[in-house]
Amino acid sequence: MGATYELRGDVAVITLDNPPVNGLGFETRRAFSAGIERAHADAAVRAIVITGAGKAFSGGADIKEFGSPKAVAEPNLLSLIKQLDDATKPVVAAIHSVCMGGGLELSLGAHYRVAAPGTNVALPEVKLGLIPGAGGTQRLPRVLGVETALNMIVSGEPVKSELLASVPGQKLFDRIITDDLLAGAVEFARAVAAEHAAGKPLPRVRDMKCRHPNGDAYFQFARNMVKGMARNFPAPGKCVDAVQAATQKKFDDGMVYEREIFTALMFTPECKALRHAFFAERAASKIPDVPEDTPVRKIEQVAVIGAGTMGGGITMNFLNAGIPVVMLEMKQEALDRGVATIRKNYDAQVKKGKLKQEKLDQRMALLRTTLNYADIAQADMVIEAVFEEMGVKEKVFKTLDEVMKPGAILASNTSTLDVDQIANFTKRPQDVIGTHFFSPANVMKLLEVVRGKATAKDVLATVMQLGKKIKKTAVVSGVCDGFIGNRMIEQYSRQAGFLLEEGCTPAQVDKAIEKFGFAMGPFRMGDLAGNDIGWAIRKRRYVEKPGMRYSKTADLLCEMGRYGQKTGAGWYDYQPGKRDAIPSAVVEQMIADHRASLGIAPRKISDDEIVHRLVYALVNEGAKIVEEGIASRASDIDMVYLTGYGFPLHRGGPMCYADTVGLFNVVQTMKKFAANPHDDASFWQPAPLLARLAAEGKSFS
Ligand code: NAI
Repeated sequence: MGATYELRGDVAVITLDNPPVNGLGFETRRAFSAGIERAHADAAVRAIVITGAGKAFSGGADIKEFGSPKAVAEPNLLSLIKQLDDATKPVVAAIHSVCMGGGLELSLGAHYRVAAPGTNVALPEVKLGLIPGAGGTQRLPRVLGVETALNMIVSGEPVKSELLASVPGQKLFDRIITDDLLAGAVEFARAVAAEHAAGKPLPRVRDMKCRHPNGDAYFQFARNMVKGMARNFPAPGKCVDAVQAATQKKFDDGMVYEREIFTALMFTPECKALRHAFFAERAASKIPDVPEDTPVRKIEQVAVIGAGTMGGGITMNFLNAGIPVVMLEMKQEALDRGVATIRKNYDAQVKKGKLKQEKLDQRMALLRTTLNYADIAQADMVIEAVFEEMGVKEKVFKTLDEVMKPGAILASNTSTLDVDQIANFTKRPQDVIGTHFFSPANVMKLLEVVRGKATAKDVLATVMQLGKKIKKTAVVSGVCDGFIGNRMIEQYSRQAGFLLEEGCTPAQVDKAIEKFGFAMGPFRMGDLAGNDIGWAIRKRRYVEKPGMRYSKTADLLCEMGRYGQKTGAGWYDYQPGKRDAIPSAVVEQMIADHRASLGIAPRKISDDEIVHRLVYALVNEGAKIVEEGIASRASDIDMVYLTGYGFPLHRGGPMCYADTVGLFNVVQTMKKFAANPHDDASFWQPAPLLARLAAEGKSFS
């Protein structure tokens, strides 16, 4: 592992070799550097080709080394690139498959670059809250032109090599090689070596000019555009600054400037949050007691029971991934309605140009419907999405147990019911699991995978892998009321209710938390999802937990028939056909009357208090969930909130946010909240895990 060295006649070939994507880890860098030296020391070598083994040229930094001293140990990436800059023999980069981040920056140190078509080329650092840190912002504009380079750097998105090669005047690629890349690169290297021997100087990217004809106006325009899109993230704006510097400063000064920005960004909370989310996503797919090589079951055909809101959305995920689905319902009308909704959703995508008609037809062709269980018996997995009533689930699972082939995975989309109880309706509880999708199921990234007491490890591994295949962020949750996400949101909602009782309006609460970065505040959210859903859950839950205090305002609202957008009125008023939330005098009066009945004199509550009461309610329940082992790690909770509940990405999720504030500070603030006579002191009793970590000066991560 590292990099290999071989001679092809008078051309030395250095091949990065660090699977899976030739990350530029320490060993790889050392071997690469040694290879460049060796090629220079060998008088018989006239040119050097650098390339990558396997499925990439290089994907950039080695994420296994992230944050460790090895990541920056010499020779670091900048030293390698300097070595190429100083090379006296021509260096040709032979680029294929993936050329990203540090990999692209390394190739920009070479004198020439040849590429295979179809290569994904990108500087994705902005996605981790950074700018490229090894010359990317200074070199890419020199070879691609300012505008194309800036677009790539600001978006971080990959662009195909052949497309870049068609940019007028570009010097990124000297040639696109459609057949054997390495053979072509060696031949190309030999040709340039001959020219070089005849006196042609070696072209270095650092020596190229970097200009924009209307620099000031263009960069001002770019800055405005980026500001609008980047919202809470500083990195995109800094990309503009760095690229502008490439047009104004000498190369070496531009490099220093780039480094200064890179280092400063590294310490911003936004960058920390993005890196946290990146690693949290990877961690979520790992289950402590389920080895990664656990064999999985084949899922080639799926059945979905119930063609309602969730069943339809769930079905679309599988059709999108090319997996055939049979939908089962009680009545033909329900099936027809379900299929029509799916088609309508796809049609809308076609109209927006997001989906080709041909693809729509392919997907619809994978869908079958039935009223008869015999037609789903051979499915590898069945997902139940029928009414949320234990009696209905019981009937369905008993039938599934009778008809489904042995080894089929039996999943429930229940959002509140006990998956263990559901599993026990069958004689094969090891095959039963919860797959809790979020609405709209074809859009939302989150999939809570609910592991029952008896769920077999291979069933869990299969569903986690399937989650990836249907492009979800799958997070494992143990069985408890509400699983991870909804169990926490209950505490958040309780606080939102207390805030109303103490003097807030729904709009004030929503505005404060939306300013913090949430996609939607609790009351606008309630109106969208339907306030009656929570009402039904509360009726059940607070009968079971009679001691649990909560604000009755939401019940009073439902008693007024104000279920939300679907009834044209909820916490807010709505005009027919519109979704704008208009503050409602009737609701504010209802809240004021309720407040008076409790004998509470309203007070002015700051945005800061609103935000912290809501967010720390999540954090405290999250800590309990980790401690009970319902979640494997705190970062899983962050993934649930980032992908399923609109928690602001730039804050990294509730647990990451608490770490940023400092757990000691979080606990101190909670103590202050506990002293408020109108709040619930027991609510703010710090979870044992939180109290312990705070006392020890530790963090969740
Ligand atoms: P829905 O009422 O829109 O759809 C349920 C469908 O199941 C109906 O079409 C009904 O005809 C069918 N059905 C009922 N009993 C059946 C049976 N015995 N056999 C075959 N089909 C039957 O309900 P929705 O919203 O799709 O919810 C389904 C499940 O998903 C529930 O368990 C719910 O808690 C859960 N869920 C709902 C979410 C939401 O936002 N709506 C979010 C996450 C989970």
